[in-house]
Amino acid sequence: MTIGIGLLGLGTVGAGVAAILSSPEGRHPLVGQLALRRVAVRDLSRPRPVDLAPEVLTTNPEAVVDDPAVDIVVEVMGGLEPARSLILRAIAAGKSVVTANKAVIARYGEEIAAAAAARGVYVLIEAAVGGGIPIIEPLKQSLGGNRLQRVSGIINGTTNYILSRMAEEGAAYDAVLADAQRLGYAEADPAADVQGGDAADKIAILTGLAYGGSVPRASIPTEGIDRLDSRDVAYAAQLGFVVKLLAVAQHLGTADDGTELLDVRVHPTLLPRQHPLAGVHGVNNAILVEGDPVGQVMFYGPGAGAGPTASAVVADILNIAGIRQVGGAPGQLDPLLAAGSWRLCRLVDGSRTRHRNYVRLQTRDQAGVIGRIGTCFGDAGVSLQSIVQFEGQNGAAEIVAITHEVLEQHFRTALDAIEALAEVEAVAACLRTL
Ligand code: NAP
Ligand code: HSE
Repeated sequence: MTIGIGLLGLGTVGAGVAAILSSPEGRHPLVGQLALRRVAVRDLSRPRPVDLAPEVLTTNPEAVVDDPAVDIVVEVMGGLEPARSLILRAIAAGKSVVTANKAVIARYGEEIAAAAAARGVYVLIEAAVGGGIPIIEPLKQSLGGNRLQRVSGIINGTTNYILSRMAEEGAAYDAVLADAQRLGYAEADPAADVQGGDAADKIAILTGLAYGGSVPRASIPTEGIDRLDSRDVAYAAQLGFVVKLLAVAQHLGTADDGTELLDVRVHPTLLPRQHPLAGVHGVNNAILVEGDPVGQVMFYGPGAGAGPTASAVVADILNIAGIRQVGGAPGQLDPLLAAGSWRLCRLVDGSRTRHRNYVRLQTRDQAGVIGRIGTCFGDAGVSLQSIVQFEGQNGAAEIVAITHEVLEQHFRTALDAIEALAEVEAVAACLRTL
């Protein structure tokens, strides 16, 4: 039985998918049953790395969705619209969808999942998080017997590539970002990568799967690497830490009404050099899942790029093809693969969360400053792990403090008092620390 595939997009990911479908030898036999029928692009004249008959290409994506020879629609065009409408159009036509589009799923996932459930089709999203790493299916299926406490990880390949090359080679930020774009890692607008939005989309998706209920994407506190100062990376290294853009979704408890209370966020983070995520470099991603009774499980691999992402897209196509082959009852979905929400979740007020912190202060270099800063921390109930003075410019000092795990509210109170000290010129940087 041949299964018709319609591709919406033939860029980095789409071309990777087309390359797999056009060379089934040595892969799972089901790949040989997938036929690429139609492909939508914006520009027909653009040279493509895969050979396709001219009649396969169209600039009309609706024609791909509506084509009766297309059984599964693969959306790899990116952006919110028309991607969202095309996914809904495919569902309405009774076609399962595979998408790599985390921006759409993080914002419209509930609407899309409800439409898919009502129509009895699948919308699978393995490629939306972690590139080639299987993480969506493990969260839906393999780890279903666990109560998950925390999902944390490096889930943006572009920023990890930039941070790694800056740390290893002292490479300039703009030049490395340009390399990430050339290699097909970055989003069409790389602001989504460097400002943390892409990682926030992905942690929103992982949160929904790990805890069985979604949180509003817009409410996830998000900070990228675009304002990270290379001095903080250097000081962190001297203190035994590596700086990574981390996304975290942590279960904090259950409210009286049964709502799950979560702390979900994205920010540059100091990781102790021996932490399992500290050794994840380049375009690689890693997701650390902590659950009961499994303990810690880490998923690691290439987080972006044509081949890895296409591998994840094809895995989803094969899942759907396999189900079609055994001929499940029409409209009946495997509840694990379809993965709907089953409970309410909400984010806790950030001031009530607990973290370790790194703070860099620019101060006058004079006697007693460290003591007065230490008093401000102590008065607010913030316990320090270390406080170190580095030499600043023009006779100024830079003081770096690392706190123990403290209530965010107490840390902010201490910072307000420190900022008010006459000897303190600026609170120059604040970063979370694991
Ligand atoms: P890309 O290289 O920019 O490719 C986008 C493709 O979609 C292009 O072929 C483009 O046509 C086509 N397209 C865009 N808008 C269209 C429209 N309105 N009508 C018809 N065709 C349209 O993007 P990509 O890197 O492959 O990413 C695609 C999706 O996968 C995004 O959602 C992205 O977030 C996600 N993703 C990417 C990666 C990665 O490593 N790149 C990894 C995971 C997930 P033209 O070629 O004619 O311009
Ligand atoms: N721009 C994304 C990243 C692509 O760099 O991780 C993979 O989702």
